[in-house]
Amino acid sequence: MPNTPPSLLVTRAMPSDVISRLTQSYEARLNDDDTLWSREELLERAAGCAAILCTSTEKMDADTIAALPDEVKIIATYSVGFEHIDLTAAKDKGIVVTNTPDVLTNATADVAMLLILAAARRAYEGERLVREDKWTGWKPNFLVGTEVTGKRLGIFGMGRIGEAVARRARGFDMTIHYSKRQRLPASQENGAIYHETLEALLPHCDFLSIHCPATPETHHVLDRDHLALMPDGAIVVNTARGTIVDDAALIDALKSGKIAAAGLDVFENEPKINPAYRDLPNTFLLPHVGSATVETRNAMGFKCLDNLDAFFRGDSPPDRLV
Ligand code: DGY
Repeated sequence: MPNTPPSLLVTRAMPSDVISRLTQSYEARLNDDDTLWSREELLERAAGCAAILCTSTEKMDADTIAALPDEVKIIATYSVGFEHIDLTAAKDKGIVVTNTPDVLTNATADVAMLLILAAARRAYEGERLVREDKWTGWKPNFLVGTEVTGKRLGIFGMGRIGEAVARRARGFDMTIHYSKRQRLPASQENGAIYHETLEALLPHCDFLSIHCPATPETHHVLDRDHLALMPDGAIVVNTARGTIVDDAALIDALKSGKIAAAGLDVFENEPKINPAYRDLPNTFLLPHVGSATVETRNAMGFKCLDNLDAFFRGDSPPDRLV
């Protein structure tokens, strides 16, 4: 590390263990109030900083990156997703960018399973009845959902998180189908059935769990035409990014029963969500909490710091994107 601690702008409030560690090595500018800064505020605060620790709530588009002070040499994002950062613009300006893969795999896969089970078993409707004191007692035809045992789970995007969901779903005796740009090595498939394209995967999905990155190619990829390829009464779960789903198409499919239920942890334009999702009884909605465990949120912060420390030691950061 340099003799004088590098100055580090931290854009959001962080877990206390992360703050304790980062203040030992950096001259940290913190955001204790956790207010969401405007682009101008961020740029103003970045003056004189060598590094920025941001999150997915800060849009680091080409204009923002171009306007960053020249002293900024590295951006460490406290997220595995990096669609909020224009990597080309960062590279052009000579700014290193890192993310936090691996450490949030299990927590996010747990939430995908939570959504699969909650959507299948009508958890929102049941919870609301009990909480509102409207439950009138056990009946054979009361809140009957769908079994997961023996069903086919389609995983769109079989990366680390997709594989972790597959491991969990096998424990529920689900059969795994998947699509991914490149087929997994046979030794890693563990019986999962590969489909080259999303079109080929969808007819085999009693459940679909989305785990691909948000890119221009995956924008609104789950649209009307793709939903029509799924079996009637299928269930859709998304813990990746809201932009992958065409909300209007999914909402219509949920209304018609083509899609029996959806479990969603991420939304386009979150925290504002399409209000129709709230009115539907067959949705189970979470506020982007895939990685929200104490263990994972600490690990994400430590990973950012491992990357920053490596950079300021003159080494290549382990999770360097550009
Ligand atoms: C991630 O790490 O990408 C989470 O979704 C939080 O942004």
